[in-house]
Formats: sequence, C-alpha cells, structure tokens
Amino acid sequence: MSELFERQRDHLFFTWSVQDDVVPIEIVDAAGARFCTRDQGWLWDLESQVYNVNAGHRHPHIQQRMIAQIEAMPAAAPNAVLPIRAELGELLRRHSGMHRAFLTTGGSEANENAVKMARLFTGRSKVITRRHSYHGATLAILGIAGDDRKAPFARDLQPAIHIDDPYPVPPHAAGEASAWVRSLAAVIEREGPATIAAILLEGLTGANGMQLPPDDFWPRARELCDAHGILLIADEIFSGFGRTGRWFACDRWGVRPDIMTIGKGLTSGYAPLAGVLVSPRIAAHFDDHKLWCGLTTYAHPVSCAAAVGAIEVYEREDLPGNADRVGAVLGERLDALQRAPKLGGLVRDHRGHGLMRVLELDRPVGPLATIALRHGLFLPTKGKLALICPPLCLEAGAVPEIGDRLEAALGELAGM
Ligand SMILES: Cc1ncc(COP(=O)(O)O)c(C=O)c1O
Repeated sequence: MSELFERQRDHLFFTWSVQDDVVPIEIVDAAGARFCTRDQGWLWDLESQVYNVNAGHRHPHIQQRMIAQIEAMPAAAPNAVLPIRAELGELLRRHSGMHRAFLTTGGSEANENAVKMARLFTGRSKVITRRHSYHGATLAILGIAGDDRKAPFARDLQPAIHIDDPYPVPPHAAGEASAWVRSLAAVIEREGPATIAAILLEGLTGANGMQLPPDDFWPRARELCDAHGILLIADEIFSGFGRTGRWFACDRWGVRPDIMTIGKGLTSGYAPLAGVLVSPRIAAHFDDHKLWCGLTTYAHPVSCAAAVGAIEVYEREDLPGNADRVGAVLGERLDALQRAPKLGGLVRDHRGHGLMRVLELDRPVGPLATIALRHGLFLPTKGKLALICPPLCLEAGAVPEIGDRLEAALGELAGM
C-alpha cells in the first residue's frame, strides 16, 4: 500500500466498495489505450476508465479545447449564452439526429431528467425497463431500473415494471414476433397503455452483459410505442459515441428514439457531462410549456469544450469506424478463446458489437481481474462476465497481444 493510497483513503470514499477491501490502482501515466500504474506498470485499459475514455488517454486535441475554454470563460450560469454551448448543440444534432439537448453532470441525472421530461410531455407516470438493466445510481432511477445495486434500498423504492431480458434469444419462426417482443406487448397490455409514459432501454446492455437483442427488438419497440403514445428512451450512456462501431447503438437497427440519454464518451471522460436529447416534437412541447428541470452546473463551459473536442476527435479519426473494424478483429480472437482446447470450455459465450464485448464464463470470475493485472490487462469483471471495452483508438495490431494475454490469464483461472 502506498503512502498516497493511505492519504486518499483516509478522507475520500471509493465507489461501490467495502472501503477496507479496495485494491489500489495508482495511475501514474496514460496514453492511448493503456495506462501505467505504480505497482503493475503499463496495462491495456479494457475498461476505458468505466467505459469513458473512448478517444483514448490524454488526447492533445481535447486537452487543448478545454484549456482554451478555461482561458476564455471557465464558469457561467446555466442560461448564459456562450459560443461553446451553441457549438456543442449543433454537433449533437448532427450526429444523433435528435433536436435539442438538456445537459447534466452525469448519466444518472440524465436518466432522471429524461423521465421527468417524459412525464411532463405525456402526463403519464409509468416507465418500463428490462429485468436486468442499469440506468444510474440515484434513488428514482434505481427504483425504475433492474440492477442488483438497488437491493439495499429496495424497501423504500417504488416497485419497478420490467420486461424480460432479450438474451439469450429463444428461436422464433420467420414472420413471428420474438419472445422479447411478445413480453413487451404483454406488459404494455397488463399495465394499461394509457398509463405508460416511456420504455427505457439501453442501446446495448452494458453492465448486465451485452445482451444482443433479437432483430425485431428495436423496430417493434418503436412500433408499439407509436401505437400507444408511449415514448421510447434509448440510454446510450455506455453504448454511444462509437463504442459499438456506430455513433449510437440504436443506429444499428435504424431506429430513432423519442429521447436519447448520453454521457461517458460524450466528453471521453475528460470532464463530467451527460445529457438528454429529444426529438423535434418534444422540443416543441417545451417551447410553450415550462421545463421543470435545472442544475447549477448545467452545460458547464469546460465540460462542453471537452465534449466538442471529443466529438471532433471521433469525426477526424473516424473512431466509430475504427471500433467497428478493430472490434471485428477482436471478436474473432475472442471467439477463438471460446473454442481454445487449453481453456476446456471455460469461456461459455462471447458477444457484443464494436469495442463493447463480453466473455461469459462457465463459473464466477473469482480472481480473474487480479490474475489479468499480472498479465498486463485491466479487465473489468462481474459475476460470470469479463467485459472487454478498450478505448476506441485501439489499433488492430494490438489485438494479438491482448488476445494472448487474455488467453494466458484465463488459462491460469482454468487451472485453479
Ligand atoms: C447504461 C448506463 N446508464 C446510466 C449510467 C449512469 O451514469 P453515471 O454513472 O454517469 O451516473 C451508466 C453508468 O455506468 C450506464 O452504463
């Protein structure tokens, strides 16, 4: 334990942890898709600092954009008019196809505000989510979503309304609705369509394991929402800004939601910023109805500059395209792990899109994350899952090395 770790631990909490169990990761340097720690040296960052640094570490263009804004105007009231705010609004419009943004400091707040806006717009209150879904850590969102992190608070939360998970997808005959769509239609019917404000779905499930949906998932959800005046909210906080090899995951299905929430890759994690993007119809509603939403650090100028810088990097370096191409190469290597005789069936499944991938093991991951550190990988794990989500600047040439390191780490686990 370093002296620095002890100093920090004395007066700052670590998140989602029993404080005494925290294993320190003391970062001393970072570049591109890797970071360097005091104890483990350089590691491939397969978590992108909580699925955040899509542009990679210490990108000079984003840094310069932020510095320029700090010099020009580092702080401003929520409704102050600034060039950087107008610029970001235009970029978001261009890449998402949505009309207007409400900007927050984090993803949980974005989903809170999306639900508020959906309720204000529809005059209805219920929100449907998937049984296993993560949309944030604040109380209202914990209540609505389906993640086990709500457990300690469950007694005080309103009951959630869930549809089944879309994965694994039971086979369905051509022309017939998938089990997932049937489950959605049944829940809408049971709850009463006129009471439902919104269906909130992750663009591609993140923390709960990249559950690839059946092909009719998004198109039929869109149709059911249209038929019943329900708003479709796509939570693209994890899956957005190129992570799945498209600007937004729901682009893969050609579906436009009524509301999209964004975060993480929006600034590539260089500053806190998230947001709610809405369709022209919803934007127009608030032209003559009060928007009951606000935050002191709304559209923070330095965060806006980080977002503009990050989006410019995604455009100039075609990082969504790179995630698609490198993701395909990585996907082949991960498929090979599933078949590797040396691993004896340890890897039960591999799934994902772009650089948003997961390995599902035949057993709980146990010490895999610690083993992976010894093999030069920072590997996020949960239950039976190992998530593989490196920065989108990863080069195809790095895939064999990462694959070999993963295979060695998994081999150690298999031999235990
Ligand atoms: C899909 C999704 N939605 C919302 C959130 C919450 O975002 P934040 O942690 O910025 O509040 C997360 C965070 O991991 C997420 O993955």
